[in-house]
Amino acid sequence: MIDTGQKCDVVILGIFVADLAFSARRMPVIGETIAGSGFAMGPGGKGANQAVASARGGAKTAFISRLGKDDFGEMALATWAREGIVTRISQSENDPTGAAFIFVNDQTGDNAVIVVPGAAAKITAQTVQDNAEIIENAKVFVTQLEQPVEAALAGLQLARTADTVTVFNPAPAEEFPEEIYALCDYITPNETEAASLTGIEVSSVEDAKRAGDALLEKGVGTALITLGEAGALFHNRETSQMIPAISVNKVVDTTGAGDAFNGNLAAALARGEDPLQAVRFANAAAGLSVTRPGTAPAMPTQKETAERLSRG
Ligand code: RIB
Repeated sequence: MIDTGQKCDVVILGIFVADLAFSARRMPVIGETIAGSGFAMGPGGKGANQAVASARGGAKTAFISRLGKDDFGEMALATWAREGIVTRISQSENDPTGAAFIFVNDQTGDNAVIVVPGAAAKITAQTVQDNAEIIENAKVFVTQLEQPVEAALAGLQLARTADTVTVFNPAPAEEFPEEIYALCDYITPNETEAASLTGIEVSSVEDAKRAGDALLEKGVGTALITLGEAGALFHNRETSQMIPAISVNKVVDTTGAGDAFNGNLAAALARGEDPLQAVRFANAAAGLSVTRPGTAPAMPTQKETAERLSRG
């Protein structure tokens, strides 16, 4: 599976899981059974979704991860082959590929997730070192916190040393070493994650700016705080600008919108777009993704996002 000697624009470290998505009017309470309105199984995991988003968003993309040798692992490999993603994957004989339970509210598209990383829980700093060259040769490196933090740290350190632009998506909200902040050219928390990192409740743009200031104080280059249907705040020492989300007719499923944002941000930065324009592109892609069911399957192509952006 290891694809040696390739140079990619965007390299993403993260997990793949099979998403098992159940739609219903509401979540059952403990001890209760309710009838749902839909079910779908498909490729997921934040890092893997971001890799699909980046590839569809126009970047030659590599993905570093760990799978089991099972049906869900086969689903992963088939997805990456179809999307033209360069795979830097090891496969465990013993550990299963991970899975996620996803509840989707069939009225609002809101979601709740339980994710079990499976084999990807054993990604280590050594896994990253084994892929040093492709990270060092990339234009943009992206990671999150679904795999062990030591691997995220090792990837960000390698990328920084090589002047590869770093995007750190601190999701889900887990603790991580303070030294990570100074390794982030871009940090991309949503409002909940920004609050957990800074202790500042984020319920307005002004709150987000204060949280952004706290993240700058900790050493990040630019804070990109995503605020759901309101859009994203671009905040650094020179510029603080709210980039509004695109308007959509009907929200079907919000799961993976953050992944659409991060993957497309990376793709746009890698092709040299001005950072504010890259955020506009990422916002539009995230807006399109929520109009479709699923996570990776909902990612728009570069052409679709560019057309939507050109309509304003
Ligand atoms: O960001 C959405 C993703 O988070 C889902 O695909 C699910 O697998 C969880 O990892």
